[in-house]
Amino acid sequence: MTFSIMDFVIFGSERSMFFPPPTSSTAAEVDSLFYFILWVCIVFFIVIVGVMGYCLIRYRERPGVKAEPSASHNNILEVTWTVIPGIFVGVIFYWGFVAFLDLRQSPDESYEIQVEAKMWNWSFTYPNGHVDNVLHVPVDKPVRLVMTSVDVIHSLYVPAFRVKMDVLPGRYSHTWFEANTVGDYTLFCTEYCGTKHSEMLSKVVVHPSGEFEKWLEDAANFLERMTPVEAGEILYQRRGCAQCHSIDGSAKVGPTFLDAFGSEQSLMDGSTITVDENYIRESILEPQAKVRVGYRPVMPTYQGQLKDEEINALIAYIKSLSEGSQVNP
Ligand code: CUA
Repeated sequence: MTFSIMDFVIFGSERSMFFPPPTSSTAAEVDSLFYFILWVCIVFFIVIVGVMGYCLIRYRERPGVKAEPSASHNNILEVTWTVIPGIFVGVIFYWGFVAFLDLRQSPDESYEIQVEAKMWNWSFTYPNGHVDNVLHVPVDKPVRLVMTSVDVIHSLYVPAFRVKMDVLPGRYSHTWFEANTVGDYTLFCTEYCGTKHSEMLSKVVVHPSGEFEKWLEDAANFLERMTPVEAGEILYQRRGCAQCHSIDGSAKVGPTFLDAFGSEQSLMDGSTITVDENYIRESILEPQAKVRVGYRPVMPTYQGQLKDEEINALIAYIKSLSEGSQVNP
């Protein structure tokens, strides 16, 4: 993408040097205020530095001209350079405060989605109980996010919507937006939260009018529609396993799932176990119970977060990643 000077100059331009195109109901207001402040700063910078430079040269000490203290102060000048910036600060405060209230106060009819952040993935829970790691929303409808963290401070950021709000452990924060353009947008964690903070990314999918409800129903019923292995693969992606467990044999924060099932492994306490259904189930529900040598006990528990069918599907998927596994797809 290339930018011309006009992209920089125009207030609230569709394309700009600083922001992606605005795609939410409040984004244009944020942009206008930003460009207003930017241009106030540019104009004042030029005026102040220009006058300063002129005075430096015009009144410099040189042969025949000696430095002298000013005879008195200039009332008109001092009142002018106090009142004019004062008016600008007042305008910026009023405009910013009104826009801030709009960003904080979600409309009453908002569609509510629960957000949970943990190191290092997002999960979004819909009113029908469906959990996803991608945020799906309908177009042209206000969506309210009720957010909490299970470990440290994270922060949800969707640049295209100009939405940014901290997600805190032990309390709920909220934000809202109304997406007005169908498409996919990047969702970031924008609060440093540990080793893989920069990979704590997700997506917002804005569905066309009428298609969101259909997507939600389909997504919620995936366990019934799919084989356990297929459902397990989806859960592996959706529920954050993929952040720490590879399926290609490489070691990440946790051990790889490739050829894990049926293998013998050493534990931190010196004993040995065979990776079987019971070990996987226990490790999902009580990750600290039997930690393998070479890994730190950092996995959060999924107790109460995965249903039995979901754990079964994950076990089936992990099984399917082992050579010679006896799994019927
Ligand atoms: Cu979560 Cu950075």
